Amino acid sequence: LSDKEKSLRQSQASMIILDEIEFDAQVVTTPLVFAIIVASTCQFLVGYNTGVMNAPEKVVFPGHSTTAWAMAVAAFAVGGPFGAALGGKMADQRGRRGAMLIDVWIFLFGGLLQTIAQDILTIIIARLIIGFASGYSSTVVPIYLGEMAPPTLRGTLGTLTQFCLVIGILIADLMAFPFATEGGWRVLFAVTMIVAILQLLMSPFLLESPRWLLNRDPSSLRARYIIKRLRGLRDEHQVEQEVGNFIIGETAQHQDEGTQASILKELWAHPKRRTLLLSSLVLQMGQQLSGINAVFYYSTSFFEGIISNPLIGTTIIGAVNVAATYVALLLMDSCGRKSLILWSSGGMFLSCIVVVLSLLGFLNNILALVAVNVYVCCFEIGLGPIPWLIVAEVIEGKYVAIAMSLCSQLNWACNFVVGMVFPYLNLYLGPYSFVPFAFVLGFVFFYALFILPETQGKTPEELVAEMARRNSQSMVYEVNEDEAGAIDLEWR
Ligand code: GLC
Repeated sequence: LSDKEKSLRQSQASMIILDEIEFDAQVVTTPLVFAIIVASTCQFLVGYNTGVMNAPEKVVFPGHSTTAWAMAVAAFAVGGPFGAALGGKMADQRGRRGAMLIDVWIFLFGGLLQTIAQDILTIIIARLIIGFASGYSSTVVPIYLGEMAPPTLRGTLGTLTQFCLVIGILIADLMAFPFATEGGWRVLFAVTMIVAILQLLMSPFLLESPRWLLNRDPSSLRARYIIKRLRGLRDEHQVEQEVGNFIIGETAQHQDEGTQASILKELWAHPKRRTLLLSSLVLQMGQQLSGINAVFYYSTSFFEGIISNPLIGTTIIGAVNVAATYVALLLMDSCGRKSLILWSSGGMFLSCIVVVLSLLGFLNNILALVAVNVYVCCFEIGLGPIPWLIVAEVIEGKYVAIAMSLCSQLNWACNFVVGMVFPYLNLYLGPYSFVPFAFVLGFVFFYALFILPETQGKTPEELVAEMARRNSQSMVYEVNEDEAGAIDLEWR
């Protein structure tokens, strides 16, 4: 391409991008609300089941061994990565909606098994199934919501799922007060089942993701009908323009023409896409290796000696967690992702240092308590929600399911590692047990500072184009326009 042609094509691409941004001032329609409710309720169940085992240890089949209970708790994170792997495949094969409904059935089955269990082994198996459903959910829900929401709302909606997750943790903490009893624990476990039934009742109102439909068939009438309802449009021209937004940048190839491995290879082959995928993976790893679940799993023992009823300490953290996620909900679409990650990792890093200094006796014990709460707050304004929402934001439709599934598997694997390793860190490093987390947080901070691109309010296609534009010496894409005026950014 000559220089003149290149700059002409670049400005064409920018015009399309501007069009798209103007078009994004969308309303929240009823079908979008249903999508949000059902999808975020899945994440509520993930949170609920993260917290539900905290209290009832002594009342569920009393007399079980500590190892049996630990296995029941950890089975959740063991099931997670497997569910995450299947979730991505199902999201591509069955559609985002179909895949999510399968998830609800798995939750229902796991919840039922846990409620009617007659021994601890059944509880372990049920936790494994619920963990599987949770990993599956953390792959499918962000893809579905990321594709249903207009770009300007994506941050808020992505944070909303995290909000539902943390409410799940808090409700589990609160339910423990009346129901963590010998006669009441089955009620604690039945919640999963009841919520899943409510979700199934709402499923007829759930729409398929238009991006998935268009990716399989760019001329899909069903996709056009859904776009019309989802975006509340009347005019066919607007619908076609929105269709263009959904398929811009996609190669017109059908998804099932490539195997998962070949799609992954293709994603990895392009340096810009590779950087975006790597950034997503770094954030997922950073989220878990920041040690957040060490706090959620072990807060009760942390509060021993500081508060007379450790359950109250755990509930305070749960409540602070919800409040901080609410603030994140307000911030997410007005602040950039990059700056939130910087504040989040920087604040968590400093809190870790304060925790270590307090445990070493240099600072007051109460400061350790305050620092843990600040640490949780900083987590929720950045490293908590952003890794989950950023994948569908930076990775194009064709690759998003495989990328999300990879990210989610890595996340759950790291979650499992922290859960298993933290007691040993505590044993061998004593007051320094938060130091490894501080190292990870320092790394995330510098990664965000120097490498992470800003993604707020942009579609994956714009991002890829923008990254290519930034580096115009190595022109890496070509803009093709077909007769219908749809733009395709083809990689060189
Ligand atoms: C994020 C993490 C999850 C953690 C939660 C705490 O969603 O993925 O592992 O338990 O935040 O709020």
